[in-house]
Parts: sequence; structure tokens; C-alpha cells
Amino acid sequence: MKRRHLLLGGAAAAAGVAWWKKPVDRGAPYDEHFRALNAELKAHGSMQPTLLIDLDRLDRNIDRVATTLRDAGKAWRIVEKSLPSQKLIDYIARRANTKRLMSFHRPFLNHDAEFFPDFDVLMGKPLPVRAAQAFYAQLKPGGFDPTRQLQWLIDTPQRLSEYLQLAQGLGTKLRVNIEIDVGLHRGGVGDNATLGALLDSIAANPRQLEFAGFMGYDAHVGMGVPSILGSSRELLDKAMAIYAGFVDFARGRYAPLWHENLTLNAGGSPSYSLHPFEKISNDISTGTALLKPSHYDLDSLRAHEPAAWIATPVLKKTGPIRLPALDDKSRILSWWDPNQRETFFIYGGWWRADYESPQGLQFNDLFGHSANQEIVNASPATGLEVGDHIFLRPQICESVLLEFGDLAILRGGKIVDRWPVFGAEA
Ligand SMILES: Cc1ncc(COP(=O)(O)O)c(C=O)c1O
Repeated sequence: MKRRHLLLGGAAAAAGVAWWKKPVDRGAPYDEHFRALNAELKAHGSMQPTLLIDLDRLDRNIDRVATTLRDAGKAWRIVEKSLPSQKLIDYIARRANTKRLMSFHRPFLNHDAEFFPDFDVLMGKPLPVRAAQAFYAQLKPGGFDPTRQLQWLIDTPQRLSEYLQLAQGLGTKLRVNIEIDVGLHRGGVGDNATLGALLDSIAANPRQLEFAGFMGYDAHVGMGVPSILGSSRELLDKAMAIYAGFVDFARGRYAPLWHENLTLNAGGSPSYSLHPFEKISNDISTGTALLKPSHYDLDSLRAHEPAAWIATPVLKKTGPIRLPALDDKSRILSWWDPNQRETFFIYGGWWRADYESPQGLQFNDLFGHSANQEIVNASPATGLEVGDHIFLRPQICESVLLEFGDLAILRGGKIVDRWPVFGAEA
């Protein structure tokens, strides 16, 4: 073959490959669910970025967790940081018939004490001792009694000695739950020598310290590690073998501290549905699974339904993408990609969230982000107009739920209430 033919053949092949890579039109209008929601929001919404909670879906998710844990004989501890609203937590606690919370943030802990005066609260992370001190300083007189209802989380002998001093200074007793490392490797006690040092100190100071149990968080069990490292069941078995080792050590060597009412906490949304397979824990934390943001599209949560969305109005519709400086030369971009043939600017944006509806919405890297008026490109097939809403699915719950003011509560696809979220200060 002649050299010229070879070159032509090569160019044709390259063009073929490039054409094969040309984006297809991914746009489609709202499905019936989001079409109706858009109509509801246009009639009764606030026409600003809004966090929606669908109570019908939430109910089914609550029932899934409640039934699973009840059948396994384990208590459910609601993760407050993932559902940071008094009314939301209250709604879940009543339906699930639980009065246990896990808290992660000092101001929220003071809210918990005020709003849920008859709950048991376990800390999900070890707070700096001065934050613990601030909790007591801010505690409003009322029903909540920290000496009976609050479990501080302790991870090291150093922190325990700081908390001991706090207890001495306050003239009170602190309940101590010990964080153990069951394989996640996010800190916590990793060996019996350290655990022994902690339990020695608790046993030596009965007027200031009381042993309340263990907390062994195991997100790695359901979050998925490369399958070569083990199945979820294998990882659960490994984690609970470590847990059992600490339980045996404490029960065997510190029998006077051991009793039936200790909190042996485990879990997290990724792993809660696996805990019926073990008999060591008695208290399982779960929060995010109730709203199932997109980072929780996990095998272990396949039965759960997304129950939270961000809705925000389209402010502007400006046609095919036009980039600053490129101006009309931008046309090549919308010629190449049908999903850039329409451009919208929305109210707010740049959230930790993924576009959900209508179908085929995409961010434009070349234009860049804005938290004020984010750009969204799409195909004309979406049928979106100014005043319609774009729906996004949060990637996680904590922090995202706090960004929109009151939660808009849906029942039967209608806004039926607005529930305030926790404030940053107590
Ligand atoms: C100690 C602990 N337990 C449980 C959870 C699970 O929370 P969720 O169910 O909201 O994922 C977390 C999440 O960070 C955690 O840190």
C-alpha cells in the first residue's frame, strides 16, 4: 500500500474513533414524580434552594431499620448529625420507638439535652475536654441528667485523665464509653494494654468515672473495600472478632465494672443490616440510611429509598453554551455535545449533591462553579424553562442538611410542613 493511502486510512480511522466518542443526547424531561413535585413547588414552594424530605419514603426506611434491629434484639441509636433537626429526630424516634441518640458536635449535644430530656446520648467522637466543659457550662437546668444519660467517648489514657480532672473540677461523675478500633483504623483503643490502662483508671476513680461500654464503628464493613480484601460478611466477622476480644478482656479482668446494661455500640448506615449476623453488640447507630444520599448507594442499603432532595429554581435560560472570551466560537462545543445545547443558571449551587432530574443535567468545567448562580448544561430534550426546578440528590446528609434553612416536608407529594434545622450555637 502506498504511504498516502496509509495516511488517509489512519486519518479516517482516527475520525471514526473520535465520532464514536461524540456524546449522545442524554436529556429527558422529568418523570411523573418530579413533574408533580415541580408543579407543587411552583405553586407552594419558596422559590429558593430548598431541602425536601419525603415522609412516605422516610417512613418505609425507618420501618426497614426498626424491623431489622428489633428482630435482631438490638437497640437503635439515631445518628443526630445526619438528621440535625429536632422535629425530624423526634418523628423518627417516635415511629421507631427508640430514645437513644449519637451526637458528634458540642452545640448539638446541648440541643439534644434540651429537646430530648429523657434520651440516652452517646458521643460518636471524643471531644476536646474544653468542649466537654462547655457542654456543662451551657447545660440548661431541666430533665436531662448527664450522670445517667450521657456517655462521653474516650479514646486514649491522656484524654481520660483530662476528663477525670474535669469531673473533679465539676464535682460530678462522668460516664465513659471507650472507643475501640475494630478495623476502621480511625483511632480508638487498639490493644488490651491500653484498654487495661483505661479500665484501671476508671476502677480507681469510682466517684468521678463510670464505665458505660464500648463504641466500635465499622463503616468499612458495608462501604465496600476492594473485594479481594474480603466480602462484607468476612469484614463484619473480622470486626466483631476484634470487638469480642475487647469484651472478653474487660469482662474477664474487670468483672466489677461489667454488667448487663453496658452499651456495646457498633454499626453505622453501611453496616447496620449486617449486624443481625453477630451477637456481640447490643446497640446499633444508624442515621444516613433513612435519607439515602447518593454516596450510600451500597449493596447493604439496596432496600432503602432516597428520601431527600435539593430543589432549586432555574433563573436563566441562555441557549447553547457560550464561554467567556470564546464567545461565538463556543458553537463548536454545542455542535459536538448535544448536552451543551441548552444553558441554565440556577439559584445557588455547588452543593455536595448530584443532578437527579430532569435527566442529563451536567456541570460545565470550562465555565466553572458558582455558589450564587451555578451553570447547568443540558440538552433541549429536558424541556426545562425559567421558573422550573432542578432536583439534586445530596451526596451525604451531615452539613448538607444544614445549608437550606427549614426542611420542606412532603407527604403524598405535597408540602405539609417546614421543620427547622439545628442552629450552630447553643
Ligand atoms: C461513630 C459513628 N457511628 C455511626 C456513624 C453512622 O452514621 P450514619 O448512619 O449517619 O452513616 C458514624 C458516621 O460518621 C460514626 O462516626
